[in-house]
Amino acid sequence: MSRDVELRSGVPLVHRLVVVGLGLIGGSFAKGLRERGLCGEVVGFDLDPRSRELAVELGVVDRCANNLAEACEGADVIQLAVPILAMERLLAELAMLDLGDAVLTDVGSAKGNVVRCAGEVFGRMPQRFVPGHPIAGSEQSGVTAAKSTLFRRHKVILTPLQDTDPAALSLVDSLWRALEADVEHMEVRHHDEVLAATSHLPHLLAFGLVDSLAKRNENLEIFRYAAGGFRDFTRIAGSDPVMWHDIFLANREAVLHTLDDFRADLDALRAAVEEGGGHTLLGVFTRAKAAREHFSKILARRAYVDVMHSNDLIFLANPGGSLNGQLRVPGDKSISHRSIMLGSLAEGTTEVEGFLEGEDALATIQAFRDMGVVIEGPSQGRVTVHGVGLHGLKPPPGPIYLGNSGTSMRLLSGLLAAQPFDSTLTGDASLTKRPMNRVAKPLREMGAVIETADEGRPPLTIRGGQKLSGMHYEMPMASAQVKSCLLLAGLYAAEKTSVTEPAPTRDHTERMLQGFGYPVQVEGSTAAVESGHTLRATHIEVPADISSSAFFMVAASIAPGSDITLEHVGVNPTRTGVIDILRLMGANIELTNQREVGGEPVADIRVRAARLKGVDIPEDLVPLAIDEFPVLFVAAACAEGRTTLRGAEELRVKESDRIQVMADGLQTLGVKATPTPDGIIIEGGGTIGGGEVWAHGDHRIAMSFSVAALRSSAPIRIHDCANVATSFPNFLSLAEKVGMRVGVESSS
Ligand code: S3P
Repeated sequence: MSRDVELRSGVPLVHRLVVVGLGLIGGSFAKGLRERGLCGEVVGFDLDPRSRELAVELGVVDRCANNLAEACEGADVIQLAVPILAMERLLAELAMLDLGDAVLTDVGSAKGNVVRCAGEVFGRMPQRFVPGHPIAGSEQSGVTAAKSTLFRRHKVILTPLQDTDPAALSLVDSLWRALEADVEHMEVRHHDEVLAATSHLPHLLAFGLVDSLAKRNENLEIFRYAAGGFRDFTRIAGSDPVMWHDIFLANREAVLHTLDDFRADLDALRAAVEEGGGHTLLGVFTRAKAAREHFSKILARRAYVDVMHSNDLIFLANPGGSLNGQLRVPGDKSISHRSIMLGSLAEGTTEVEGFLEGEDALATIQAFRDMGVVIEGPSQGRVTVHGVGLHGLKPPPGPIYLGNSGTSMRLLSGLLAAQPFDSTLTGDASLTKRPMNRVAKPLREMGAVIETADEGRPPLTIRGGQKLSGMHYEMPMASAQVKSCLLLAGLYAAEKTSVTEPAPTRDHTERMLQGFGYPVQVEGSTAAVESGHTLRATHIEVPADISSSAFFMVAASIAPGSDITLEHVGVNPTRTGVIDILRLMGANIELTNQREVGGEPVADIRVRAARLKGVDIPEDLVPLAIDEFPVLFVAAACAEGRTTLRGAEELRVKESDRIQVMADGLQTLGVKATPTPDGIIIEGGGTIGGGEVWAHGDHRIAMSFSVAALRSSAPIRIHDCANVATSFPNFLSLAEKVGMRVGVESSS
């Protein structure tokens, strides 16, 4: 039977299923398969006669046998669902029987022990024995608690050995999948270690803590005042003591290992409390809080984990509407990243306000936490970074995962190339496709040792302990990420590091370095730094992101009757290409209240609806509007006449190939959009229809098509939108607030 066996209800997968041990788990397995009609016959056996009677009465099994030998007669599959310490005796009895070709499997919480016992009693581990472990326990127990849906969306781990029969494995796998479980395969040892850490240790702590408090004299007081924290933490101390006693004895080695590691960490915490080590405590608590939040994202399958594996998030954008009111979009992504990086490398504590709580910037925070920096927040845009100085970073415990964030990876590679420790940078499926040679090549010229995957793609492995030397680099492409990467490496390199750009790109790194008191020389198109200085902690106010504002600038321009004001937007001249291009197209955009905040120009931007016309986009504006082209293409589709973009081949290597993906989507909506190698030609002014388009996991594509609906004749369904959270987590609520008609259609 193949692993992808088609499961149709009513077609038996096995003729006779035997379940030995009719408790919660065995009973639920039997009942679930029986109800789905997947077994010709389900036979049960339990040492307790009352459980046998109940199992038949409750429809858990078709019949029960009176002894093991009778139960196993003619069995195709035998599920062993007895307590783990009873397993050895059961296996010994089974070894005496003629089991024919029956497939054996079990549900024990520790696998090494079961495999060892089976090996002993059978002489060797039977090839048709597939060890398994459903992670679906509850505080309930017994056959009366059996539920046919118990395993739905629960993990089941199978731990086949090297010579496990593939057909047997595939059959057991299919049975669990039929019960709607998420089946995974793992090595026995790995399973036992993971479970010791994630399940067995917490149970030990819960039992231990409750007992320790309960036996003290003042226990009445303690329990009377036991608040939510105590109750939450110790809920699992209500679990079955006998079962847990068995588990600890069965998984002894792995538990001891994880317990010893934990004891060392607990001792460090004790020492910190004793010595008033507030910094250590804050470090542990902030890291733990972040890990806990990240963990809930894993469970909720949010974008930060890996969009390509997460479920499709569909936006439904309904036609029409106009925009009115005032709004402040979240903080600038580029500045948010840099505030964490430079704040971490500074001496002292940096306070950040207006920080973007999007997944890309959160990935940068996590990276620095992994390297030992204590970072509080973000909470309502406030972050406190306890800088460790230029030489204070610590080796990360494992690969640094940067999600979807190209900026994090490129800037960090410069910084890490100069550290005394090795590091590995990884990311999600989209980031893994993006070119990194543009940073790896010049860094190698400075003396860095960097390995990449094929064609310069991530992951990057950076060897520490290299002496970097400064150099002059003429950038072949206009990229602020490459420039920033080299300047960050330059903070550690001997002599001067200078970078000349072919066209101006965002200069936030240069500005912010100066804000931290680090000298940067900027002459014309060249920026240079020398090592030997320090960064001094500062206060950073992150302005609203002009790239996120751009969606509303275009939206208000194309939707008749619109009049909005975007507040506190960063209008650094290296970022305002979108305003220039929209104005060339005839947009009505007014900048008021212009001021400078923390070294960055800021303004309020009023945008009113206007009749747009197609233009030839001046090439010198391309790097200054590099992230805004997807939504500018929507403006072009609504503008009278032809819009032509050239010199923008960089768009092909962003979070998606933004030229192709936008052209495909616009064509679907009936817009004539012709991609060229370095740009696009859009014939605007026609009707925009509705339809299904794909964002390809690219946040800016998803938001751009949401804007297009303001002028479409029918709804636009936009697939693969989860990554909007990388740069603009509250896009939908702000869009709705000002009058757009876009929302989540379904998140299956
Ligand atoms: C960024 C630079 C740009 C931009 C990206 C952010 C930065 O990338 O597209 O979203 O923060 O330095 P390139 O440097 O690749 O043009």
